[in-house]
Amino acid sequence: MGWDYSEKTKQLFLDAVHGKPGTHLGEIKDADGVGEHGSISCGDALKFSFRVEKNADPLKDRIVEARYLTFGCTSAIAASEALCCIIEERRVTPIEALKITNADIVDFLDGLPQQKIHCSVMGAEALQAAVADWARKRGVDLAALGIEIQIQDEDEGRIVCKCFGLTEPYLRRKIKELNLHTVEELTGAVKAGGACGTCRYAPGGLQDILDDIWGKEAAPAAAEPAKPVVQLTGLSRGSEPAKPVPPTEELSPYQRAKKIEHIIEEAIRPILRSDGGDIEIIDIKGDLVLVSLQGACAGCASATQTIQLLVEDQLRTQVSDKIRVVQV
Ligand code: FES
Repeated sequence: MGWDYSEKTKQLFLDAVHGKPGTHLGEIKDADGVGEHGSISCGDALKFSFRVEKNADPLKDRIVEARYLTFGCTSAIAASEALCCIIEERRVTPIEALKITNADIVDFLDGLPQQKIHCSVMGAEALQAAVADWARKRGVDLAALGIEIQIQDEDEGRIVCKCFGLTEPYLRRKIKELNLHTVEELTGAVKAGGACGTCRYAPGGLQDILDDIWGKEAAPAAAEPAKPVVQLTGLSRGSEPAKPVPPTEELSPYQRAKKIEHIIEEAIRPILRSDGGDIEIIDIKGDLVLVSLQGACAGCASATQTIQLLVEDQLRTQVSDKIRVVQV
């Protein structure tokens, strides 16, 4: 089953990868604020930059242009696009931009599947890092204004989730900031526990940290089965009853193959071609998609990551989470 994205999310993604005028994929040269979040090895990375209209009083600088470079799936690109749209539409100061939360991004997208909420969190974190950079360049003392920005790299401490390199101080901060109460919410928001899963209920793991923060009674039993995909309109509404997503339509093998072809043609090939590469489908056998990377992608050291994090992720997101992509 593919993710149930809103029409707005799909449209923003397609517009961005096609470079439609008015979209924000790219980087600002000599930007006034630059921030990064995530890492490619974890599957998502975002670099966010903005330019301000300068004022004699730096606190009155206004953000007039925002751009992003995102390595990630459909929702990561759509969430980054949403963040830039919100910022430019509101013409906020960098300090005002800090009030934009991941819930605003999710609302702008008309909802995101719970497992993809982390894409909106990534945008909000990169924005914070960019504002910290702007403040440093413009001589603004954020601490004196009562604003504390913590960058992920600064959350040093015991690593709880080894798969994503997430430390206990970082997880504790995000649990409180985003009001996360269950392991599933934590996985959706920051990916912790979303790979091998061993950190979820291990001693000192995610459930123990949640119990410590909220108290044992407030947290669900460790053996609670995984919840179905739910559509959230914001993390703040996470306590509302979950609405199951209706099953996606069953596709015939022919329709499925055509859909895979279409996604590769429309969403993946343009990205690879922009880097001098290309991709060809060799065969589709059930859930197995055999492809050949070409051009600059063929001998690239990141070919495996391109296959897994771009091609496979897109197809899993939009067609079926059982799909496996292999380069031949
Ligand atoms: S250690 Fe956390 S998902 Fe693997």
